[in-house]
Amino acid sequence: MSAFTSGAGGDKLEPPPGEGILPEEMVVRTERRWAWVVVSVLGAIAAVIVVTGAVEGLHPPSNVETIDPAKVYQSREFSESNLGTAIEPGGRATVRMIGQQYSFVPQCVTVPVGAPVTFRLTSADVIHGFLVGGTNINTMVVPGYVAQVTGTFSRPGTYTMPCHEYCGLGHAGMAAEVRAVPPQEMPAPGSVERVRCATQ
Ligand code: CUA
Repeated sequence: MSAFTSGAGGDKLEPPPGEGILPEEMVVRTERRWAWVVVSVLGAIAAVIVVTGAVEGLHPPSNVETIDPAKVYQSREFSESNLGTAIEPGGRATVRMIGQQYSFVPQCVTVPVGAPVTFRLTSADVIHGFLVGGTNINTMVVPGYVAQVTGTFSRPGTYTMPCHEYCGLGHAGMAAEVRAVPPQEMPAPGSVERVRCATQ
C-alpha cells in the first residue's frame, strides 16, 4: 500500500486491480464476514453444549475417574465380592462390573424397574464397549478409567449387554445380561445386597 501512496499530497494513487484480482477492501470485507460466520457457529455450538448441559442435564456418558487397570480386582470397589448390583438406600441401584477378554464379570445382573440404575464399569485389559440393548445406556470401557452411566428401566425384561468395541478374537462372544424386575422381586433384603443371576 505504501508503495502506491504519494508522500506529498496524501492522495492515494492506487493502481486499478489487475484482471481477476479483487480490490483489497472487498477481500477484507469478505474475510471479516466469514470470520463472523465462523465465530457465530462456534458460539452457537458452545451455547448448545452449555444450555443442554445446564438445563437438560446432558453430558458425555462417562466420568473421568481413574483406576490402575492391573489392580482392578484388588481395588476395593471392583473386588469380586463387591461386583454385581447394590441397592442403595432410597431404592437406587449401582451395578459394578468388569470387562475383560472376553466376558463381563458378572455375566448377569438383576436391576429394579423404575429406579435409577448406575452402571460402573472398568476394564482389566483392553478397551471394551458396553450397551444395554433397547436403551440409551452405551459407553466405552477404557482400561485405567471407570465408566459410569445412569439410566432407568421402564419395562421389566431381559436385556442383552454386548461388548461393542472390537477387543480381540473372542469379541463376538462377549456379552452379559441385564434382568430388570419389579423392585419387590429384587432378591435383595438389606440396604446393600449384591445380586447376581449368573448361576442358572
Ligand atoms: Cu470386549 Cu469386544
